[in-house]
Amino acid sequence: MAGLSATPTRAEGNAQSLQQGMVPKSAVPFMLPAEPTPKYQLKFPDFGYMPPPTDYTGRVFVLSQDFPKTKPAIEPAVEKILKIDYRKDWRAYLDAVKQYVFQGNIDAENGVEDDFFLEDNTVRRWFHVPWQHWGPNGREGYHGLTKEGPLPVGSLAPEQTVKSSAYAVGFYNAMGGWTIGQLWPSAQAPDMSYFQKGGGFPDGTVVAKLLFTTLDESQVPYLTNPVSWNAYVYQADVPGMPAPPTPGQRVTAKVHLLQMDIMVRDSRLDKQGGWVFGTYVYNGRMGKANPWENLVPVGLMWGNNPEVTVSHTNPTPTATRINPAITETIINPDTRELPPMHLGWNSRLNGPADNSASSCMSCHSTAQYPAISAIMPQFNNPAFPTPPDGQDAGPEFMLWFRNIPWGQAFNKGHAVSLDFSLQMQGSIINWIAYTDSVQQGRFSAEYWSKGNRVSRNPGPAPAQ
Ligand code: HEC
Repeated sequence: MAGLSATPTRAEGNAQSLQQGMVPKSAVPFMLPAEPTPKYQLKFPDFGYMPPPTDYTGRVFVLSQDFPKTKPAIEPAVEKILKIDYRKDWRAYLDAVKQYVFQGNIDAENGVEDDFFLEDNTVRRWFHVPWQHWGPNGREGYHGLTKEGPLPVGSLAPEQTVKSSAYAVGFYNAMGGWTIGQLWPSAQAPDMSYFQKGGGFPDGTVVAKLLFTTLDESQVPYLTNPVSWNAYVYQADVPGMPAPPTPGQRVTAKVHLLQMDIMVRDSRLDKQGGWVFGTYVYNGRMGKANPWENLVPVGLMWGNNPEVTVSHTNPTPTATRINPAITETIINPDTRELPPMHLGWNSRLNGPADNSASSCMSCHSTAQYPAISAIMPQFNNPAFPTPPDGQDAGPEFMLWFRNIPWGQAFNKGHAVSLDFSLQMQGSIINWIAYTDSVQQGRFSAEYWSKGNRVSRNPGPAPAQ
């Protein structure tokens, strides 16, 4: 019989072994084949909030999470940006970064609703930070928008009579994506070792963030000719909606582009942070054929001007106030194109959706783990309130307006710097809070603020 030749088939071999009372491993029916070993990589969730699939059949947000395993080379387009002198040619710099962010991300065949689906980009790859889906402000599923800070009455325009919130999505170029993968080598758990060893974002990392609001041109006149997306937002943030049955109730509503933020990693600035921050506001009155081009520069900053300690804010602006003493920020002086902006504390850079008593670099300098100090002195424990206009701020308040050298944590010696990335910080905080909640208090995180470990708002700011 052919089957009982010198080399039995696997089935015949198994039969023989079974008869001899031995069960070879290969006979166990539920074992996976030894070769090739299938690798099921756990993925990060895409989003946290969305109407049920029975109610919505359209396209959904997909987290771009295949982070490059090897460090990418710096792109020629980024090299060109780094060659521009942002202090002199700030407009050329901001234009170049804007075009870099737009390339391959806009002009979708089906219109703006399909813009910034990163998986459609055939020019270059962009990546999202995971773990922004969790918690009450987590990502929604139309465009991956997270709920952001409040937009108080009058903060966007004198015509604004109702408050709302901003909704935003941020993304990193390949250099940034590689760095995200250092913190998140798998979806199992974060790994701090790269940052602990003093790692950060390499030169040429570009980050962008789009900010939207449910408020339309009736509240904010410069949001005419809007770029509008569907979003799953808090009902309480939609003007004209009845009071929500529960505070966190969400509804599908239109949101309109308000602001775009950018960050460019530049090691020539390492003594004072190592990044250029820039922002644009949407001014539909520019009437550009491509509506995305209605994003006009507000300005850019590369330092916090720590020596300027006098307090000034302009929370409900009727005019943009430029402060010549603030020399590490440049604000667009063209009032024809720039609507009245509140800017940041004492006219440092901030966008319309940002807090008027902070600045881009002030807030982002707190990106560290553990997150010992709050993002703003006013939210810290203990809190340091904004001094009245014209008065000097004390040394505690000014901790938030230092030029912290690159790689140094805000609470030096007590935390590891996350290189100005607040989404990286948020991803760790959210992962710990989630893991704690499903693993019966694995990290006892609810007690951390009583000691001195973590949370957005824990214990006193340690002495420097
Ligand atoms: C009061 C605090 C605060 C201010 C001021 C602020 N940001 Fe942020 N920013 C955040 C937080 C928190 C996040 C992370 C959560 C998110 O993406 O919304 C963030 C995220 C970002 C991101 C995505 C990258 C990241 O993970 O950090 C960019 C880019 C950004 N901000 C740029 C800016 C720019 C430019 C300005 C000034 C025009 C600015 N921010 C002002 C708090 C602030």
